[in-house]
Amino acid sequence: MADKKFEKNLLCIGAGYVGGPTMTMIAHKCPQYKVTIVDVLPEKIKAWQTDDLPIYEPGLLELIKLCRGKNLFFSTDVETGIKEADIIFISVNTPTKTFGEGAGKSADLQYWEKTARDILRTAESDKIIVERSTLPVKTAIAMERILSLNEKGLKFEVVSNPEFLAEGSAIKDLEKPDRVLIGSKENESGIKARNEIVEIYANWIPRDRLITSNLMSSELSKLVANSFLAQRISSINSISALCEKVDAEISEVAHAIGKDSRIGDKFLNASVGFGGSCFKKDILNLVYLCETFGLNEVAAYWESIVKMNEYQTSRFVQTINKAMFNTLTNKRIAVFGFAFKANTSDTRETAALYVTQKLMMEKAHVVISDPKAIKNAKNDLKNYGDDIEFQEDPYKAAKSAHAIALITEWDLYKTLDYTKIYHEMEKPAFIFDGRNILDHEKLYKIGFEVYPIGKAPLIHFKEG
Ligand code: UDX
Ligand code: ADP
Repeated sequence: MADKKFEKNLLCIGAGYVGGPTMTMIAHKCPQYKVTIVDVLPEKIKAWQTDDLPIYEPGLLELIKLCRGKNLFFSTDVETGIKEADIIFISVNTPTKTFGEGAGKSADLQYWEKTARDILRTAESDKIIVERSTLPVKTAIAMERILSLNEKGLKFEVVSNPEFLAEGSAIKDLEKPDRVLIGSKENESGIKARNEIVEIYANWIPRDRLITSNLMSSELSKLVANSFLAQRISSINSISALCEKVDAEISEVAHAIGKDSRIGDKFLNASVGFGGSCFKKDILNLVYLCETFGLNEVAAYWESIVKMNEYQTSRFVQTINKAMFNTLTNKRIAVFGFAFKANTSDTRETAALYVTQKLMMEKAHVVISDPKAIKNAKNDLKNYGDDIEFQEDPYKAAKSAHAIALITEWDLYKTLDYTKIYHEMEKPAFIFDGRNILDHEKLYKIGFEVYPIGKAPLIHFKEG
């Protein structure tokens, strides 16, 4: 089956934040394989073929330039891709359902099922199917059921290989992952298929980091890993609200508890709230799964992580409103950062969207600034037409503003000339640091009214 020049043909369906970086790394580390990435969106594929990639991910373009046209190819020809492939990775989008049964919680599997049916219709030989998108538990079994309907006598083995890469550090995470998880049915053909996937990763990852498990454990581990990570953020964010009341500092608390090796020091940065395509979706998937089995207490426990996140974001907007004399009407507010975190152009589930919507409800004049996510921000906010201003340059965004609301922890915002910014702002000049990345004392000395997360504000005017 494989192209004669290559040992194996690998296909990835879905050229997004997951498929693009994952397959580029495989192509880079395994020149003996031919790697093809297909997508239904022609403009997306076209962009992958240029140096203006459809996603921003540090280090990605450099790797693509090394492999593109050699053993890495981008195409819209899904059918030929399927026909030629020995192994098919599936990384199509699985957003939360917005309609019908399970709306708001369960995953929308329409793209995923369409992919299964594309494979069923087109395949002419046996294949291993690798589930790379995050999917509800038992999806692999459902995939296998659809594929077993083929009348051509073909054999499809479905393997789960959840992605644990974080955007912004995807290349690093793929190059040196903490672990790669590969789940399969534990019969002879399942184990054989899983070993084939293990061998791909073993080209560059030490074997003790390649974990195998049964299918369900693998699928569930992805949801649980993300739910645990999100839980840490909601836990520290909940304590940030308390710190603001009792004269404690959240960064000191986080540092002190993080030194306990049982707790650890990662993922304890209080923030305006977590975003991204995975956390909320995966927790809600877990919640839906628990509800399906009548585990209502378990479902409520995990759902509270999402509720706490929503609370943290709305608390941030309330702080802005209250500090600015309970009226934001016509006030120019510069939103620094629209991406859901630094080093990505991705804005899915970003706290910035929620903050912007709330500020618009208060009739503020919102100006969005971001070094990489302006295009996505414009798309997310298109319903507002010209009512929202976009300024990539933070100095222009802050000019004549009453306040700056920092949402994304881009390094760029740490090194701006805040004296210059201050002098060009309306007074009193407010700064709300939703990430605690700025030098608050210094800003206060410049003249700003400074509102961090989880510690007392630094204000010049104290209420009587
Ligand atoms: C996450 C998981 O980390 C990754 O393993 C999984 O495969 C996909 O989902 P990602 O969504 O890309 O990755 O970003 P992550 O770095 O986990 O951050 C998620 C959100 O939490 C961001 O909005 C981030 O800013 C926020 N966050 C993170 C905090 O608010 N505080 C922290 O301490 C850490
Ligand atoms: P993720 O963050 O999970 O990678 P993205 O939305 O960035 O999600 O990428 C998923 C990609 O999958 C999108 O570019 C979408 O066009 C593509 N896609 C969805 N359904 C299909 C399909 N049936 N065939 C090919 N590509 C698909």
